[in-house]
Amino acid sequence: MNNTMTDKYAVIGNPISHSKSPEIHKMFAEQTGQDISYEAIEAPLDGFNATIERLRSEGYKGCNVTVPFKFEAYELAAQLSERARTAQAVNTLKFDANGIYGDNTDGAGLVRDIELNLGIALRNKRVLLMGAGGAAYGVVLPLLHAGAHITVANRTADKARQLAAAFAATGDVHGCGYDELKNHQFDIVINATSAGLTGSAIPLPDTVFAPGALAYDMMYGRETPFMAFARQHGARVADGLGMLVEQAAEAFYIWRGVRPDTKPVLEKLRSV
Ligand code: ATR
Repeated sequence: MNNTMTDKYAVIGNPISHSKSPEIHKMFAEQTGQDISYEAIEAPLDGFNATIERLRSEGYKGCNVTVPFKFEAYELAAQLSERARTAQAVNTLKFDANGIYGDNTDGAGLVRDIELNLGIALRNKRVLLMGAGGAAYGVVLPLLHAGAHITVANRTADKARQLAAAFAATGDVHGCGYDELKNHQFDIVINATSAGLTGSAIPLPDTVFAPGALAYDMMYGRETPFMAFARQHGARVADGLGMLVEQAAEAFYIWRGVRPDTKPVLEKLRSV
């Protein structure tokens, strides 16, 4: 064994060429003096497990997992964190002598971005979470643990109610359709739908934003119709770049036991 060898990590997805994760982890490694490599790997759509097996046999220490493999990663992991188990999705795998450990750092990344980078405490805030797919499931538990009161709204209202029921024992969360939002205002409105990908608007009432509300889109790299709508109605708007950097920092911490300073990394990414 050669202990001076660089520890290898990667992000697995399909497609993956757009990923900013290698750049982010490179900056974390430089900043903390950790000797790691981190690359983007595109797995075939039917080849996630085989790709993980190959990485393990080549001595990789872990990987991040992104669309569309987060559920497969959840099924593959022999041990799961509570937040991965409740999200039924894994974005961080760690490989060691105990086998494959799965965690989900997305929700923690979102909470840290809102609380630390944007400076808004979540405790007792009225949060509207839009969407009831994988992205929404991934963030509910950490939002509840931070003390938020959550309304989940979804185009298919039944899925929002199902999601809320799954977390009802943990905190204050209920589900509904968009048409039930008419007389309600929220301090924080989070877009966890994939509507922005197709440029579709979400049918929100004009009155949904409380004075000084934050509109947070988990997407980054483009102005979504939701962000434009929020700006028109006076909300403060944030995209998901901060969440991306924070979930990466949380993964880095799981692997290396060192927490990088995210601020200069986020500033660098915003400046290009
Ligand atoms: P992800 O893993 O990104 O969450 P997903 O599981 O396919 O992807 O979920 C996509 C989410 O975006 C769903 O909540 C979906 O609503 P439905 O459950 O009704 O399908 C939501 N969504 C997608 N396009 C939308 C649109 N044009 N308007 C509103 N919601 C939309």
